[in-house]
Amino acid sequence: MPDLYRLTRPFLFRMDAEKAHDLTLKALRTGLLPPPPQEVSGPALETTLWDRKFPNPVGLAAGFDKNAAVIGPMLGLGFGFVETGTVTPKPQDGNPKPRVFRNAQSESIINAMGFPNGGAETFKRNFGEFLERRPRPSGVIGINIGMNKGQPEPAKDYRALVRSLGPLADYLTVNISSPNTPGLRDLQRRDALLGLLGAIMDERARACGSNPPPLLVKLAPDLTDAQQKESAAAALEAKIDGLILTNTTTGRPASLPDAFSSRPGGLSGKPLCTASTKIIHNFYKLTGGKLPIIGVGGISGPQDAYDKIRAGASLVQFYTALVFQGPCVVRKINTGLIDLMKRDGFAHIGQAVGAAHVRQDEKEQKSKKSV
Ligand SMILES: Cc1cc2nc3c(=O)[nH]c(=O)nc-3n(C[C@H](O)[C@H](O)[C@H](O)COP(=O)(O)O)c2cc1C
Repeated sequence: MPDLYRLTRPFLFRMDAEKAHDLTLKALRTGLLPPPPQEVSGPALETTLWDRKFPNPVGLAAGFDKNAAVIGPMLGLGFGFVETGTVTPKPQDGNPKPRVFRNAQSESIINAMGFPNGGAETFKRNFGEFLERRPRPSGVIGINIGMNKGQPEPAKDYRALVRSLGPLADYLTVNISSPNTPGLRDLQRRDALLGLLGAIMDERARACGSNPPPLLVKLAPDLTDAQQKESAAAALEAKIDGLILTNTTTGRPASLPDAFSSRPGGLSGKPLCTASTKIIHNFYKLTGGKLPIIGVGGISGPQDAYDKIRAGASLVQFYTALVFQGPCVVRKINTGLIDLMKRDGFAHIGQAVGAAHVRQDEKEQKSKKSV
Protein backbone atom coordinates (compact mmCIF):
# COMPACT_ATOMS: atom_id res chain seq x y z
CA MET A 1 0.00 0.00 0.00
CA PRO A 2 2.69 2.61 0.78
CA ASP A 3 4.03 2.25 -2.75
CA LEU A 4 0.58 2.46 -4.29
CA TYR A 5 -0.15 5.61 -2.29
CA ARG A 6 3.20 7.13 -3.28
CA LEU A 7 2.25 6.53 -6.89
CA THR A 8 -1.23 8.03 -6.65
CA ARG A 9 -0.40 10.94 -4.31
CA PRO A 10 0.90 13.40 -6.96
CA PHE A 11 -2.21 12.75 -9.03
CA LEU A 12 -4.52 13.25 -6.03
CA PHE A 13 -2.70 16.44 -5.01
CA ARG A 14 -3.15 17.97 -8.46
CA MET A 15 -6.93 17.56 -8.07
CA ASP A 16 -9.28 19.70 -6.03
CA ALA A 17 -9.06 18.38 -2.44
CA GLU A 18 -12.68 17.32 -2.18
CA LYS A 19 -12.68 15.63 -5.59
CA ALA A 20 -9.59 13.69 -4.53
CA HIS A 21 -11.43 12.60 -1.39
CA ASP A 22 -14.52 11.52 -3.32
CA LEU A 23 -12.35 9.53 -5.73
CA THR A 24 -10.56 7.85 -2.81
CA LEU A 25 -13.90 6.89 -1.26
CA LYS A 26 -15.08 5.42 -4.56
CA ALA A 27 -11.88 3.42 -4.94
CA LEU A 28 -12.17 2.13 -1.36
CA ARG A 29 -15.83 1.27 -1.78
CA THR A 30 -15.36 -0.62 -5.03
CA GLY A 31 -12.35 -2.47 -3.63
CA LEU A 32 -10.07 -0.96 -6.27
CA LEU A 33 -7.51 -0.28 -3.58
CA PRO A 34 -7.41 -3.60 -1.74
CA PRO A 35 -5.64 -2.91 1.53
CA PRO A 36 -2.89 -5.27 2.60
CA PRO A 37 -3.13 -6.71 6.11
CA GLN A 38 -2.04 -3.72 8.16
CA GLU A 39 -3.47 -4.67 11.50
CA VAL A 40 -1.44 -4.06 14.58
CA SER A 41 -3.01 -5.38 17.74
CA GLY A 42 -2.02 -7.63 20.61
CA PRO A 43 -2.32 -7.39 24.36
CA ALA A 44 -0.13 -4.27 24.73
CA LEU A 45 -2.44 -2.11 22.60
CA GLU A 46 -5.81 -3.79 23.05
CA THR A 47 -8.03 -1.45 25.02
CA THR A 48 -11.39 -2.13 26.65
CA LEU A 49 -13.47 0.93 27.29
CA TRP A 50 -17.21 1.24 27.91
CA ASP A 51 -17.32 -2.56 27.65
CA ARG A 52 -16.13 -2.30 24.04
CA LYS A 53 -12.96 -3.99 22.86
CA PHE A 54 -10.66 -1.79 20.73
CA PRO A 55 -8.00 -3.92 18.93
CA ASN A 56 -5.72 -0.89 19.17
CA PRO A 57 -6.24 2.68 20.44
CA VAL A 58 -5.80 4.42 17.07
CA GLY A 59 -8.98 5.46 15.26
CA LEU A 60 -10.18 7.29 12.18
CA ALA A 61 -11.64 10.70 13.10
CA ALA A 62 -15.08 11.87 11.98
CA GLY A 63 -15.56 13.53 8.62
CA PHE A 64 -13.70 11.05 6.43
CA ASP A 65 -16.59 8.58 6.17
CA LYS A 66 -19.62 10.82 6.60
CA ASN A 67 -22.09 8.32 5.11
CA ALA A 68 -20.75 5.09 6.65
CA ALA A 69 -19.78 3.96 3.15
CA VAL A 70 -16.25 2.62 3.78
CA ILE A 71 -16.23 1.27 7.35
CA GLY A 72 -14.91 -2.15 6.30
CA PRO A 73 -12.03 -0.85 4.14
CA MET A 74 -10.99 1.64 6.84
CA LEU A 75 -10.90 -1.03 9.54
CA GLY A 76 -8.89 -3.06 7.04
CA LEU A 77 -6.20 -0.36 7.08
CA GLY A 78 -5.56 -1.22 10.72
CA PHE A 79 -7.63 1.36 12.59
CA GLY A 80 -8.84 0.05 15.93
CA PHE A 81 -12.02 2.08 15.51
CA VAL A 82 -13.76 4.22 12.95
CA GLU A 83 -15.94 7.21 13.72
CA THR A 84 -18.52 7.66 10.97
CA GLY A 85 -20.45 10.91 10.26
CA THR A 86 -21.13 13.67 10.94
CA VAL A 87 -24.58 12.59 9.83
CA THR A 88 -27.62 14.89 10.00
CA PRO A 89 -31.28 13.79 9.90
CA LYS A 90 -31.97 15.16 6.42
CA PRO A 91 -29.53 15.04 3.49
CA GLN A 92 -27.81 18.37 2.85
CA ASP A 93 -25.28 19.79 0.37
CA GLY A 94 -23.16 21.78 2.81
CA ASN A 95 -21.46 25.06 1.99
CA PRO A 96 -20.58 26.25 -1.55
CA LYS A 97 -17.50 24.66 -3.14
CA PRO A 98 -14.51 24.87 -3.11
CA ARG A 99 -14.50 24.39 0.64
CA VAL A 100 -11.52 22.12 1.40
CA PHE A 101 -7.95 23.44 1.07
CA ARG A 102 -4.67 21.60 1.65
CA ASN A 103 -1.30 23.08 2.50
CA ALA A 104 1.37 20.47 1.90
CA GLN A 105 4.17 22.46 3.53
CA SER A 106 2.48 22.58 6.93
CA GLU A 107 0.57 19.31 6.39
CA SER A 108 -2.66 21.00 7.28
CA ILE A 109 -6.17 21.40 5.88
CA ILE A 110 -8.78 24.12 6.17
CA ASN A 111 -12.32 22.90 5.61
CA ALA A 112 -15.62 24.74 5.57
CA MET A 113 -17.74 21.80 4.52
CA GLY A 114 -20.81 22.38 6.72
CA PHE A 115 -21.79 18.71 7.11
CA PRO A 116 -22.55 17.66 3.54
CA ASN A 117 -24.02 14.17 3.83
CA GLY A 118 -26.70 11.86 2.51
CA GLY A 119 -28.86 12.01 5.65
CA ALA A 120 -29.87 9.39 8.19
CA GLU A 121 -31.65 7.05 5.77
CA THR A 122 -28.69 6.64 3.40
CA PHE A 123 -26.39 6.31 6.40
CA LYS A 124 -28.53 3.57 7.89
CA ARG A 125 -28.62 1.66 4.60
CA ASN A 126 -24.83 1.80 4.24
CA PHE A 127 -24.33 0.85 7.87
CA GLY A 128 -26.67 -2.11 7.43
CA GLU A 129 -24.60 -3.32 4.46
CA PHE A 130 -21.49 -3.24 6.62
CA LEU A 131 -23.19 -5.19 9.40
CA GLU A 132 -24.17 -7.91 6.95
CA ARG A 133 -20.60 -8.40 5.72
CA ARG A 134 -19.07 -11.79 6.46
CA PRO A 135 -16.42 -12.03 7.69
CA ARG A 136 -16.76 -8.71 9.47
CA PRO A 137 -13.49 -6.99 10.41
CA SER A 138 -13.00 -6.40 14.12
CA GLY A 139 -13.07 -2.87 15.47
CA VAL A 140 -15.39 -0.40 17.15
CA ILE A 141 -17.74 1.85 15.15
CA GLY A 142 -18.78 5.26 16.45
CA ILE A 143 -21.50 7.43 14.96
CA ASN A 144 -21.00 11.20 15.06
CA ILE A 145 -24.28 13.12 14.91
CA GLY A 146 -25.04 16.75 14.08
CA MET A 147 -27.93 19.04 13.28
CA ASN A 148 -29.13 20.20 9.89
CA LYS A 149 -28.24 23.77 8.98
CA GLY A 150 -30.91 26.23 10.09
CA GLN A 151 -32.55 23.88 12.62
CA PRO A 152 -33.96 26.30 15.22
CA GLU A 153 -34.38 23.49 17.78
CA PRO A 154 -31.12 21.49 17.76
CA ALA A 155 -32.38 18.93 20.29
CA LYS A 156 -35.02 17.79 17.78
CA ASP A 157 -32.34 16.73 15.28
CA TYR A 158 -30.11 15.06 17.86
CA ARG A 159 -33.09 13.17 19.30
CA ALA A 160 -34.17 11.98 15.86
CA LEU A 161 -30.65 10.68 15.16
CA VAL A 162 -30.35 8.92 18.52
CA ARG A 163 -33.69 7.25 17.81
CA SER A 164 -32.80 6.02 14.33
CA LEU A 165 -29.06 5.37 14.62
CA GLY A 166 -28.37 4.97 18.35
CA PRO A 167 -29.17 1.23 18.39
CA LEU A 168 -26.51 0.65 15.69
CA ALA A 169 -23.67 2.53 17.36
CA ASP A 170 -20.84 1.20 19.52
CA TYR A 171 -20.66 4.80 20.73
CA LEU A 172 -22.37 8.07 19.84
CA THR A 173 -20.64 11.42 19.48
CA VAL A 174 -22.56 14.65 19.86
CA ASN A 175 -20.80 17.09 17.59
CA ILE A 176 -21.26 20.64 18.81
CA SER A 177 -17.88 21.96 17.76
CA SER A 178 -17.74 22.24 13.99
CA PRO A 179 -17.08 25.89 13.08
CA ASN A 180 -19.01 25.53 9.82
CA THR A 181 -22.61 25.29 11.04
CA PRO A 182 -23.90 28.63 12.34
CA GLY A 183 -24.85 28.51 16.03
CA LEU A 184 -23.49 25.00 16.62
CA ARG A 185 -20.59 25.98 18.86
CA ASP A 186 -22.94 27.97 21.12
CA LEU A 187 -24.24 24.60 22.31
CA GLN A 188 -20.96 24.18 24.21
CA ARG A 189 -22.14 26.75 26.80
CA ARG A 190 -23.18 25.22 30.12
CA ASP A 191 -26.95 25.72 30.08
CA ALA A 192 -27.36 24.89 26.41
CA LEU A 193 -25.13 21.82 26.81
CA LEU A 194 -26.97 20.52 29.86
CA GLY A 195 -30.34 20.99 28.16
CA LEU A 196 -29.22 19.26 24.98
CA LEU A 197 -27.54 16.36 26.77
CA GLY A 198 -30.59 15.85 28.98
CA ALA A 199 -32.80 15.53 25.88
CA ILE A 200 -30.34 13.19 24.16
CA MET A 201 -29.95 10.93 27.20
CA ASP A 202 -33.67 10.77 27.62
CA GLU A 203 -34.04 9.66 23.99
CA ARG A 204 -31.16 7.19 24.34
CA ALA A 205 -32.84 5.51 27.33
CA ARG A 206 -36.04 5.22 25.33
CA ALA A 207 -34.53 4.04 22.03
CA CYS A 208 -31.61 1.87 23.07
CA GLY A 209 -33.03 -0.11 25.97
CA SER A 210 -30.69 -2.16 28.14
CA ASN A 211 -27.54 -1.70 26.05
CA PRO A 212 -27.26 2.04 25.40
CA PRO A 213 -24.24 3.24 23.42
CA PRO A 214 -21.86 5.41 25.43
CA LEU A 215 -22.41 9.10 24.77
CA LEU A 216 -19.45 11.34 23.99
CA VAL A 217 -19.29 15.06 23.30
CA LYS A 218 -16.81 16.53 20.84
CA LEU A 219 -15.48 19.96 21.75
CA ALA A 220 -13.54 22.73 20.01
CA PRO A 221 -9.91 23.60 20.71
CA ASP A 222 -10.78 27.29 20.86
CA LEU A 223 -12.50 27.29 24.27
CA THR A 224 -11.07 29.79 26.75
CA ASP A 225 -9.89 28.53 30.15
CA ALA A 226 -13.18 29.65 31.71
CA GLN A 227 -15.20 27.92 28.99
CA GLN A 228 -13.18 24.72 29.46
CA LYS A 229 -14.01 24.77 33.17
CA GLU A 230 -17.66 25.32 32.40
CA SER A 231 -17.83 22.52 29.79
CA ALA A 232 -15.93 20.07 32.01
CA ALA A 233 -18.29 20.72 34.92
CA ALA A 234 -21.33 20.34 32.64
CA ALA A 235 -19.96 17.07 31.19
CA LEU A 236 -19.54 15.64 34.70
CA GLU A 237 -22.92 16.92 35.82
CA ALA A 238 -24.69 15.44 32.78
CA LYS A 239 -22.92 12.12 33.41
CA ILE A 240 -21.90 11.61 29.80
CA ASP A 241 -19.45 8.78 29.08
CA GLY A 242 -16.56 10.64 27.49
CA LEU A 243 -15.15 13.57 25.57
CA ILE A 244 -13.57 13.91 22.16
CA LEU A 245 -10.89 16.61 22.16
CA THR A 246 -10.66 18.31 19.73
CA ASN A 247 -12.35 19.41 16.55
CA THR A 248 -10.70 21.80 14.06
CA THR A 249 -9.65 25.32 15.11
CA THR A 250 -10.74 28.73 13.86
CA GLY A 251 -7.28 29.96 14.92
CA ARG A 252 -4.50 30.52 12.38
CA PRO A 253 -0.85 30.21 13.47
CA ALA A 254 1.29 33.01 12.02
CA SER A 255 3.55 30.44 10.35
CA LEU A 256 0.92 29.58 7.73
CA PRO A 257 1.11 31.28 4.32
CA ASP A 258 -1.46 34.12 3.94
CA ALA A 259 -3.16 32.72 0.86
CA PHE A 260 -3.96 29.53 2.77
CA SER A 261 -4.53 31.08 6.18
CA SER A 262 -7.20 33.43 4.83
CA ARG A 263 -9.48 30.56 3.79
CA PRO A 264 -12.61 30.30 5.93
CA GLY A 265 -13.30 27.24 8.10
CA GLY A 266 -11.59 24.94 10.55
CA LEU A 267 -7.88 24.19 10.49
CA SER A 268 -6.65 20.64 11.08
CA GLY A 269 -3.32 18.85 10.89
CA LYS A 270 0.14 19.51 12.31
CA PRO A 271 -0.37 23.16 13.39
CA LEU A 272 -3.25 22.04 15.66
CA CYS A 273 -1.34 19.34 17.51
CA THR A 274 0.12 21.18 20.51
CA ALA A 275 -3.03 23.20 21.22
CA SER A 276 -5.22 20.12 21.16
CA THR A 277 -2.86 18.17 23.45
CA LYS A 278 -2.98 21.10 25.89
CA ILE A 279 -6.79 20.97 25.94
CA ILE A 280 -6.69 17.22 26.63
CA HIS A 281 -4.28 17.88 29.50
CA ASN A 282 -6.60 20.57 30.90
CA PHE A 283 -9.76 18.47 30.68
CA TYR A 284 -8.10 15.43 32.24
CA LYS A 285 -7.17 17.61 35.18
CA LEU A 286 -10.55 19.37 35.32
CA THR A 287 -12.42 16.06 35.38
CA GLY A 288 -9.97 14.34 37.74
CA GLY A 289 -9.31 11.72 35.06
CA LYS A 290 -12.84 10.38 35.60
CA LEU A 291 -14.08 10.93 32.06
CA PRO A 292 -12.45 8.93 29.25
CA ILE A 293 -11.04 11.16 26.53
CA ILE A 294 -10.48 10.46 22.84
CA GLY A 295 -7.60 12.69 21.77
CA VAL A 296 -7.55 14.10 18.24
CA GLY A 297 -5.88 17.03 16.51
CA GLY A 298 -2.75 17.12 14.42
CA ILE A 299 -1.45 13.63 15.13
CA SER A 300 1.06 12.80 12.41
CA GLY A 301 3.30 10.26 14.12
CA PRO A 302 3.64 8.01 17.18
CA GLN A 303 5.07 10.73 19.43
CA ASP A 304 2.03 13.00 18.86
CA ALA A 305 -0.32 10.12 19.69
CA TYR A 306 1.73 9.19 22.76
CA ASP A 307 1.79 12.81 23.99
CA LYS A 308 -2.00 12.91 23.82
CA ILE A 309 -2.25 9.60 25.71
CA ARG A 310 0.16 10.83 28.38
CA ALA A 311 -1.89 14.03 28.62
CA GLY A 312 -4.94 11.90 29.43
CA ALA A 313 -6.42 10.39 26.26
CA SER A 314 -7.48 6.73 26.48
CA LEU A 315 -7.79 6.52 22.69
CA VAL A 316 -6.64 8.71 19.80
CA GLN A 317 -7.88 9.53 16.30
CA PHE A 318 -6.63 11.35 13.24
CA TYR A 319 -7.78 12.40 9.79
CA THR A 320 -5.42 14.92 8.16
CA ALA A 321 -2.28 12.76 8.42
CA LEU A 322 -4.04 10.16 6.30
CA VAL A 323 -4.32 12.72 3.49
CA PHE A 324 -0.63 13.67 3.58
CA GLN A 325 0.98 10.36 4.48
CA GLY A 326 -1.43 7.73 3.18
CA PRO A 327 -2.62 4.54 4.85
CA CYS A 328 0.84 3.43 6.08
CA VAL A 329 0.58 6.03 8.85
CA VAL A 330 -1.89 3.83 10.77
CA ARG A 331 0.64 1.07 11.17
CA LYS A 332 3.46 3.55 11.78
CA ILE A 333 1.62 5.07 14.74
CA ASN A 334 0.63 1.76 16.28
CA THR A 335 4.08 0.18 16.03
CA GLY A 336 5.68 3.43 17.21
CA LEU A 337 3.39 3.49 20.25
CA ILE A 338 4.62 0.04 21.24
CA ASP A 339 8.25 1.26 21.06
CA LEU A 340 7.49 4.37 23.13
CA MET A 341 5.68 2.33 25.78
CA LYS A 342 8.59 -0.10 26.02
CA ARG A 343 11.02 2.79 26.39
CA ASP A 344 9.04 4.07 29.36
CA GLY A 345 8.56 0.64 30.93
CA PHE A 346 4.82 0.34 30.28
CA ALA A 347 3.53 -3.15 29.52
CA HIS A 348 0.11 -1.87 28.44
CA ILE A 349 -0.96 1.35 26.75
CA GLY A 350 -3.49 1.97 29.54
CA GLN A 351 -0.58 2.58 31.93
CA ALA A 352 0.52 5.57 29.86
CA VAL A 353 -2.88 7.29 30.05
CA GLY A 354 -2.43 10.49 32.04
CA ALA A 355 1.22 9.68 32.84
CA ALA A 356 2.22 13.30 32.22
CA HIS A 357 0.10 14.32 35.21
CA VAL A 358 1.79 11.88 37.55
CA ARG A 359 5.19 13.28 36.60
CA GLN A 360 3.87 16.83 36.98
CA ASP A 361 2.41 16.05 40.43
CA GLU A 362 5.74 14.51 41.50
CA LYS A 363 7.60 17.60 40.32
CA GLU A 364 5.20 19.90 42.17
CA GLN A 365 5.59 17.88 45.39
CA LYS A 366 9.38 17.90 45.12
CA SER A 367 9.47 21.65 44.63
CA LYS A 368 7.17 22.08 47.67
CA LYS A 369 9.51 19.94 49.80
CA SER A 370 12.56 21.90 48.72
CA VAL A 371 10.97 25.23 49.74
C1 LIG B 1 -12.15 17.60 5.56
C2 LIG B 1 -12.52 17.42 6.99
C3 LIG B 1 -13.85 17.17 7.33
C4 LIG B 1 -14.20 17.00 8.68
N1 LIG B 1 -15.50 16.72 8.98
C5 LIG B 1 -15.84 16.50 10.28
C6 LIG B 1 -17.16 16.14 10.63
O1 LIG B 1 -18.03 15.95 9.78
N2 LIG B 1 -17.44 15.96 11.96
C7 LIG B 1 -16.52 16.10 12.94
O2 LIG B 1 -16.82 15.91 14.11
N3 LIG B 1 -15.24 16.41 12.63
C8 LIG B 1 -14.89 16.61 11.34
N4 LIG B 1 -13.60 16.93 11.03
C9 LIG B 1 -12.63 17.11 12.14
C10 LIG B 1 -11.81 15.86 12.44
O3 LIG B 1 -12.62 14.80 12.87
C11 LIG B 1 -10.76 16.14 13.51
O4 LIG B 1 -11.40 16.47 14.73
C12 LIG B 1 -9.84 17.30 13.14
O5 LIG B 1 -9.58 17.31 11.75
C13 LIG B 1 -8.50 17.25 13.88
O6 LIG B 1 -7.82 16.05 13.59
P1 LIG B 1 -6.66 15.92 12.47
O7 LIG B 1 -5.72 17.08 12.67
O8 LIG B 1 -6.06 14.61 12.69
O9 LIG B 1 -7.36 16.01 11.15
C14 LIG B 1 -13.22 17.10 9.70
C15 LIG B 1 -11.88 17.33 9.32
C16 LIG B 1 -11.52 17.48 8.00
C17 LIG B 1 -10.09 17.73 7.67
